[in-house]
Amino acid sequence: MTRRILVTSALPYANGALHIGHMLEYIQTDIWVRYQRLAGNQCQWVWADDAHGTPIMLKAQAEGIEPEALIARIKTEHERDIAGFLLSPDNFHTTHSEENRELANLIYQRNLDAGNIVKRTIKQLYDSERQMFLPDRFVKGICPNCGAPDQYGDNCENCSATYDATELADPISQVSGTTPELRDSEQYFFALGKFDAMLREWTASGTLQEEVANKLREWLDNGLKDWDISRNAPYFGFEIPDAPGKYFYVWLDAPIAYIASHKNLASRTGEDWEQSWKQGSDVELYHFIGKDIVNFHGLFWPAMLEGAGFRKPTGIFCHGFLTVDNLKMSKSRGTSVTIETWLKYLEPEYLRYYYASKLTDSVVDLNMNFDDFLTRVNADLVGKVVNIASRCAGFISKRFDGRLAAIYPEEMIKDYKNFTSAQHIIMQYYEQREYGKAMREIMLLAEHANTYINDAEPWVKIKEPQEAESVQQICTVGLNYFRIIVTYLSPVLPALANKTERFLDTKLTLESLEQPLHDHAINRFKPMMTRVEASQIDKILQETVSGAPGADAGAGAGASAAAAAGKVQTSNVIPEPLKPEIDIDDFNKVDLRVALITDAHAVEGADKLVQLTLDIGLETRTVFAGIKAAYTPADLVGRRTVMVANLKPRKMRFGVSSGMVLAAGPGGSDLFILTPDDGATLGSRVK
Ligand code: 2FM
Ligand code: ZN
Repeated sequence: MTRRILVTSALPYANGALHIGHMLEYIQTDIWVRYQRLAGNQCQWVWADDAHGTPIMLKAQAEGIEPEALIARIKTEHERDIAGFLLSPDNFHTTHSEENRELANLIYQRNLDAGNIVKRTIKQLYDSERQMFLPDRFVKGICPNCGAPDQYGDNCENCSATYDATELADPISQVSGTTPELRDSEQYFFALGKFDAMLREWTASGTLQEEVANKLREWLDNGLKDWDISRNAPYFGFEIPDAPGKYFYVWLDAPIAYIASHKNLASRTGEDWEQSWKQGSDVELYHFIGKDIVNFHGLFWPAMLEGAGFRKPTGIFCHGFLTVDNLKMSKSRGTSVTIETWLKYLEPEYLRYYYASKLTDSVVDLNMNFDDFLTRVNADLVGKVVNIASRCAGFISKRFDGRLAAIYPEEMIKDYKNFTSAQHIIMQYYEQREYGKAMREIMLLAEHANTYINDAEPWVKIKEPQEAESVQQICTVGLNYFRIIVTYLSPVLPALANKTERFLDTKLTLESLEQPLHDHAINRFKPMMTRVEASQIDKILQETVSGAPGADAGAGAGASAAAAAGKVQTSNVIPEPLKPEIDIDDFNKVDLRVALITDAHAVEGADKLVQLTLDIGLETRTVFAGIKAAYTPADLVGRRTVMVANLKPRKMRFGVSSGMVLAAGPGGSDLFILTPDDGATLGSRVK
């Protein structure tokens, strides 16, 4: 029976360029969707840009444009990249749409009527200079748990504690650089706890990956807290009905846009979209997401849907992050490659295949290594797959007038059947998102095909006139293998599949594989894929490091989820604000000294900290610096740096930190300690 399936990918924030980290999920989705269509199922992929929230509002302000203009521009860029990477969504809409406004209102209203929404007054940090309440990610201060400085208002990157922004010591607004004040603010909360039993049952239904189900159970066991679904003006989003100055939090209307995008699609196709979203619908619904947004899709979203009388997802397909050389992607290392840059130098299918060859159904991170990428793509796609066609095509077009043999050789029928029956296991692997396993099965077939051609030696036989018929048959068998292999690869390599359809003058479908192609005219073979050259990769990495247009890959200061999903550590989209003016006396209070790093080692139990021993001539200091993501401690020993020598010693969980080293950069791996020339005398004052 034909299955009816709706698929979504996470919605990218409309404030930055798409990069190869995003592409991991989108390629995973696209392969699955194309596989479903190949299998004869009715599969729709509805998708959109995530266009609301404070980071987008502030980015538009920084550019001096309206948020609507910003999100329209970014949407065009995202659509260009989606097409460039051969992704096949049925619709790419936006959360800032009328359909979404109506649906968000409806889902909110139904939950309100059902008593699932409560109002409460809470204390929030307010930036009086910019006259706005501050989202957690726009406040930094000292972690209430471990004392690490410079931590965001939601969790500590050093000790992983989660807390409320109001608990930070010495909070600083990241929007104005001033100290925010505490103000009362009335907010709307979704009473998540009411859905505990439903969520427990849904989590245990067996459709979720085990890791995801376990994580959800852990949250459920810890008790569900009410979820704040409102934000105060100024905010870019939808105003809450009958609540002037209050807006839906971006994470409320973002998943609702899955439905809105489907509704928008239906306005063109005329289909009954509502039927898919009703409770008890027989349409399957799957969300592809990264492991950082499991709480939104596994708790809030099903609860909101249930509360409003909509159906819940059939499953959530969660993946890990992309790492490059086992590290987070980073602009300074040139690894946060935007799609725009990639497509300047390389075809999308190389990356599609590389990801496919490494993807599994688990949430473990996927590591990209460019040497491995080059070797694998060249060996498999060029060396094994396309090679089959290029070895056979020439003989057929030059010697046999472009015609395949009249009769498929009887003795090769059994092998042909082996090739076609491999589809069962391959399709099963696709279904389970075990693409790596599917690719290995397909490559075994390609190896088999190459061995057959090697052993048959058509290039030797062609010299003997009496062997002509045999050469035509060998090449016919070879090209049939090629046809089967490319059909199996078509969810991953749609462009290669198109070229093959033109070359063989046939449609690549599973049904048509039942019969081998023979007595059939084919077209002249044109090279289908060239080798990846190291120089192309070098250019991509260089362009990424040197910050070509768009290389700042959209991990805004507040775009926490996007940053984590894409695993990019780049500069903030929003430039750090200038601090309030100080006079020279203020400056003179800061005693900056040249220091020699005499020892450096990682601090056990702290993810980010390096313990430095600094010689400033007069004395030696111990300083804890959050620079582990940027430096290997041993590399620092013997280098000079600049420190604040008269900073009040601070007691941290790991010891007392007596001073601070100066570093520049947005943070994480993009951080550079100041290193004066070796000539600078130890302990000399920096003025
Ligand atoms: O984490 C993110 O990048 C979000 N923009 C994903 C939203 S997915 C959905 F729920 F809309
Ligand atoms: Zn901490």
